[in-house]
Amino acid sequence: VARELRLGLLGLGSVGRAFARLVSEEAAWLLHDQGVRIVITGVSTRRSGARVDESGLPVEELLAGGRFGDQVDAADFAATCPADLIVETLPLEPFSGATAIGATRAALRSGRHVVSANKGPVAHACRELTALAAEHGVRYSYESAVADGLPVFNLLRSCLPAADVTSFTGVLNSTSQVVLDALALGGTVAAAVLAAQQAGIAEADPAYDLEGWDAVVKLAALSAAVWDRPLDVRQVHREVVGAGAAPRAAEAAARGRRLMSVAELSDQASVRLVEVGPHEVFYPLRGAGLALTVRSRLLCPITVTSDDPSVRDTAYGLLADVLSID
Ligand SMILES: NC(=O)c1ccc[n+]([C@@H]2O[C@H](COP(=O)([O-])OP(=O)(O)OC[C@H]3O[C@@H](n4cnc5c(N)ncnc54)[C@H](OP(=O)(O)O)[C@@H]3O)[C@@H](O)[C@H]2O)c1
Repeated sequence: VARELRLGLLGLGSVGRAFARLVSEEAAWLLHDQGVRIVITGVSTRRSGARVDESGLPVEELLAGGRFGDQVDAADFAATCPADLIVETLPLEPFSGATAIGATRAALRSGRHVVSANKGPVAHACRELTALAAEHGVRYSYESAVADGLPVFNLLRSCLPAADVTSFTGVLNSTSQVVLDALALGGTVAAAVLAAQQAGIAEADPAYDLEGWDAVVKLAALSAAVWDRPLDVRQVHREVVGAGAAPRAAEAAARGRRLMSVAELSDQASVRLVEVGPHEVFYPLRGAGLALTVRSRLLCPITVTSDDPSVRDTAYGLLADVLSID
């Protein structure tokens, strides 16, 4: 007998749409091989409003655009949608995560699990939201909030127990790397950002990518989730990706190296432009590829990488969280 999971989609932008599409395209596989029937019973956006239907909303209708209904407050939707689980893909608010935190609290308090691609609430309220979920017998999961579909939190939790992680080093922002690679070849920031936007991998405000905020909030999410150590995002040193980096990117390329935006977290945190040589682990990353190296006391450095991922990989990260809910 198939297990039915009723989902409310809070946000239906690049990631929300990719998730709806993935669930629809893989419905037969999920049902017959995984024994799970996923039904989308509600959707809420800022401009197109909200719609709920306990018997399920056809995904083609959700993707077709148009108006869903009246606008509903995000927390009200999260608390009242006829769903077992809220899939939260609201825009990044790097300095507070406030809208998504409010909606997540409301969902958890009303006994709904929350699966989120949003690093803001993890960075700013991980401890509180995790405790609230436990109090209400539900789960708060956020695997895709850092490095899209790459396993990060599940990897640490399930495969590296008690490893005593001491630092993280990563290429964590696809848009920055797409821009740096374009600059190395003589391209412009504007054209590269447009390509990233068309691929759905840029933040709603691409300045959050290029100014390093996306990567900084990912470091803060790691710090909060793995070490229970909140990080003041405004204090983190950031090097901005812009036209000014073009000479450095081109010179690095001429010497067979790459200029990369590398995020580091130990007892300090930073996002810097670093020259990477061909024998270094981040050098072969292609396109929007991301990577994270985990250093720990009990084993050698472990690196996970993704090969030119798309927004579908982020959608998979959400699906992985959804399927792990019992
Ligand atoms: N794109 C990626 O590759 C990627 C990868 C990993 C994680 N993420 C994270 O995933 C989240 C979503 O990213 P995205 O690229 O999908 O962003 P997006 O395209 O800007 O979509 C955000 C969605 O949230 C809706 N929204 C905004 N405020 C709302 C509110 N108060 N109530 C209900 N809906 C609201 C928007 O509605 P309107 O459409 O009407 O504005 C839109 O549907 C972000 O937190 C981002 O950091 C993104």
